[in-house]
Amino acid sequence: MHLDALLIVAIGLALVHFGFPLAYYCYLKRWLNKPWDVKRDPGYKPRVSIIVPTYNEAGLVEAKLDDLARQDYPRELLEVIVVDSASTDGTPEKVEEWARRNPGLKLSIVREPVRRGKAFALNNALKHATGDVVVITDVDARWGSANTLSNAISWLGDPSVGAVTCLKKPAGRGVAGVEEGYREFYNVVRLAESKAHSTPVFHGELATFRKSLLEELGGFPTSIGADDSHTATMIALRGYRSIAVDNAWCVESVPREGYHKWRVRRAQHLVQHFATTLRHLTKASSGLRGVLLPETHLHLFNPWILAVTTTILLYLAIKGSLTTLTLLALGTMLLAYRPYRTWITTQLYLVIAAIRNLWTREIAWSKQEK
Ligand code: GDD
Ligand code: MN
Repeated sequence: MHLDALLIVAIGLALVHFGFPLAYYCYLKRWLNKPWDVKRDPGYKPRVSIIVPTYNEAGLVEAKLDDLARQDYPRELLEVIVVDSASTDGTPEKVEEWARRNPGLKLSIVREPVRRGKAFALNNALKHATGDVVVITDVDARWGSANTLSNAISWLGDPSVGAVTCLKKPAGRGVAGVEEGYREFYNVVRLAESKAHSTPVFHGELATFRKSLLEELGGFPTSIGADDSHTATMIALRGYRSIAVDNAWCVESVPREGYHKWRVRRAQHLVQHFATTLRHLTKASSGLRGVLLPETHLHLFNPWILAVTTTILLYLAIKGSLTTLTLLALGTMLLAYRPYRTWITTQLYLVIAAIRNLWTREIAWSKQEK
């Protein structure tokens, strides 16, 4: 192909890569300003089972249980199930000690003899859950306030809502700058998608499901790392709403080390989730399709458009095209602008994730210090 034509192709692809998310974001912004079409009921108080999966969390698990004990939800309607997968750092013993000091909260421990991953553990715990609503929460996540749980549950007072998740604030150290920019943007996206129909990305910090729906689905998927997001999406595909709400916030710790590895692994899980969701798209109602189609594109295909564009530009630069060199220099300089840098790194994680998924799915992932 003529080099000029190749340059035009590259510019066209770049326009698609950056234009698509911008157009989707503008579409979502319209939803953000609309009122909710689901009605929350603060008086709705079902029996709730909180499942806390643990793997080597001795350092954080007590603070986590303190956080749960602070919730204003009626104690007689609450049970906590810690499911531990053969931790080697004394996590279950820490939980037992905590339970002795806090007899007011109903707490049980399910101990797995071998570790098979978070979703396996959740399914084990599910067998012991007696609540009508199941809440999953990671040990390293803090709930924003004493009414975080009540607020999240109140949305299930609307029978059309099947699942509820929080919005997220990053905490602490690590590459907090990038992580924060990433969060602001995605909180807007998650909320707007929820108002439109449902969001396909749920958070393990606080993921709430009607137990009857989990049972219909046969529990959490064990071959997809993003157990929470995929379950929420399958619930949305059954016609229920799976929503992120703006009155339930969670604080998540960002790892001190291995930030990139952490981001790649989570991207791997999202890629697995969207690749599976792709096969069910025809079942989606039109409202839900309006969210699932663009999100599937953004996670599975759009990052590759950027990769192809960059490859073409590099090739043209090697061939001595001055225009291309200028474009590449411009693209590199723009990295100083945080939102752009955040976007580009996210694309990179998604591309690496898709490739890594070819040989490892990271279902039982290595623990990172937070
Ligand atoms: N029982 C059990 N067994 N718990 C586990 C296992 C396991 O094999 N692996 C991890 N966990 C627990 C951790 O102890 C923690 O409470 C929670 O699951 C989340 O693990 P993290 O190591 O903190 O993972 P993350 O925050 O990076 O992962 C996020 O993304 C995942 C999908 O990629 C979270 O949102 C997860 O909930 C989500 O599944
Ligand atoms: Mn975590």
